[in-house]
Amino acid sequence: MCGIVGCILKDDDKKVAPILFDCISKLEYRGYDSIGLATYDGNMHIKKDKGKIEEVNNKLDLADMPGNYGIAHVRWATHGDPSKLNAHPQLDEENTIAVVHNGIIENNSEIKANLIAEGHIFKSDTDTEVIPHLIQKYMDEGLDLEHALRKTIDILQGAYAIAAVSSNEPDKIVATRKDSPLIIGISDDAYYLASDSPAILKYANDIIYPEKGEIVILDKNDVVVHDEFDNIVHKEIDTINWTPEMAEKEGYDHFMIKEINEQGTAVRNTLTQKDNIQSIIDDLGHVSRICFVACGTSYHASLTGKYLLESLAGISTDVILASEFKYSAKTLDENTLVVFISQSGETADSLKALDIANETSKTLGIVNVVGSSITRRAQYVIQTQAGPEIGVAATKTYVSQLTAIYLFAALMAKNYDLVDELDKVPDYIDEVLENVGSIKSMSKRYNYAKDFFYLGRGYSYPTALEGALKLKEISYIHGEGYAAGELKHGPLALIDEGIPVVIVIPPGDSHRKTMSNLEEVKSRGARVLAFGADDDEELFNKAPEVFPINRNVSEIIAPLVYIVPLQLLSYYITLEKGFDPDKPRNLAKCVTVE
Ligand code: F6R
Repeated sequence: MCGIVGCILKDDDKKVAPILFDCISKLEYRGYDSIGLATYDGNMHIKKDKGKIEEVNNKLDLADMPGNYGIAHVRWATHGDPSKLNAHPQLDEENTIAVVHNGIIENNSEIKANLIAEGHIFKSDTDTEVIPHLIQKYMDEGLDLEHALRKTIDILQGAYAIAAVSSNEPDKIVATRKDSPLIIGISDDAYYLASDSPAILKYANDIIYPEKGEIVILDKNDVVVHDEFDNIVHKEIDTINWTPEMAEKEGYDHFMIKEINEQGTAVRNTLTQKDNIQSIIDDLGHVSRICFVACGTSYHASLTGKYLLESLAGISTDVILASEFKYSAKTLDENTLVVFISQSGETADSLKALDIANETSKTLGIVNVVGSSITRRAQYVIQTQAGPEIGVAATKTYVSQLTAIYLFAALMAKNYDLVDELDKVPDYIDEVLENVGSIKSMSKRYNYAKDFFYLGRGYSYPTALEGALKLKEISYIHGEGYAAGELKHGPLALIDEGIPVVIVIPPGDSHRKTMSNLEEVKSRGARVLAFGADDDEELFNKAPEVFPINRNVSEIIAPLVYIVPLQLLSYYITLEKGFDPDKPRNLAKCVTVE
């Protein structure tokens, strides 16, 4: 949604603005319609505007601001259009308090009406602006900044990570969170806060994770955390072993293509979780039912989990969209394992569902971001090992989620042949990546399309759904994934002359029937793009366009490999259309609102 950072340097003579600017730039994937900074050197300095970071920086030179501490924000608008006034930091009436916020204040209208009745004048259309006004009101009543923030959050409803500075109480940043992520970084010469670790990897690896309702006070001597009763909380310090380079493009044009290319490594690294997964299974006890809960791409990974667990381990498995969980999950019990799949570990819909599931059932999180809320709230955790993913469209985290799910299902089923087969996946992925040239030329032939269909059966059905999602979210071409057998029940009516239909057709049980579906669409004029085995002669004869994949990639492990050319196809079509694949319109990497 949005991203926040803050930094206080121990050295009074150093300028914080270049560091703040560097850190907030790393969070552009969380929001890219406005950016703003507040720094303090005896006076409050604010620079902010709407536009992408680079555009605003060219205009305002954001790294050139005085002061050794401050806060910064990138915005992804929810309340109020992108505009200079709506950009953060948001201020109180006298411009003494500056606030950055990620989340949504649900009762902002009510609070605003009350404050207006008391004489407050508002300038923006944001939900956030009530926060500096409330802090100002309580500071005017005599509270210090920390306690004014505490009193403020007592009235706020919704999700928030907030950082605030006040010129009436200098040399201090206060911060708090509820249902939005916030981490604190500690280094020898400064203290940091951020929505996500890529922001501060270059500066600090020692991290503390504030819990809901805790107030963090950063000054140049220390970081102190207070609980809701004002007691000091002694927080554990975790060390993040991600490197700053992992959050850089490292010579690639976009994060997305870098991350697509890192997928072999992501799978290899996630396979190291085998022993951890086995010990979770040993500890779980009796499980009669599994229920996956996730959103978007993570939901598609979960669907593959259903096929695996039901066919290999014989465990009845459901997959529920996290946003629908509260309406449908009425039959959970203590023998149900509810598995939360999430890249960010901060998706609001998933977190809400996790709270419900924790009341009745065993819960497991399969999560990429270390220390994120799901990892702290689920009873068991499998950490996928993809490293930071910056591109908004999930790629390497998807194959890492799949890897963890495959290990989990294969170990549950004691299918050690499948566990061994997974070791070959990174090489199969690398072979696909070497053949990128043919995807590039394919993308030039198909970027004209307004609609795409993606068909697959069985294990390849979730791949079709994920391929279609990748296309629509970054290229803005309408892409629809279907179970191939479902086509004749309606969607076939849409197949017309020249419409591209992607067919995912690995060798195996579903091959013959998928081939019939290929014939079905071809005879109605569709342009078929098939993704199948490199020795599939029938396919080469029947499909005008075939992307060949190693014949040894069996139907069961195909989801881990066949998605890669589909990601590449979306990426290159997006470039052909002139869009930025890392920053799709209207989307943000981490969805911390319901
Ligand atoms: C699509 C994408 C989203 C996320 C979804 C869930 O490329 O990234 O569909 O998969 O918002 O996010 P996480 O996995 O962080 O819970």
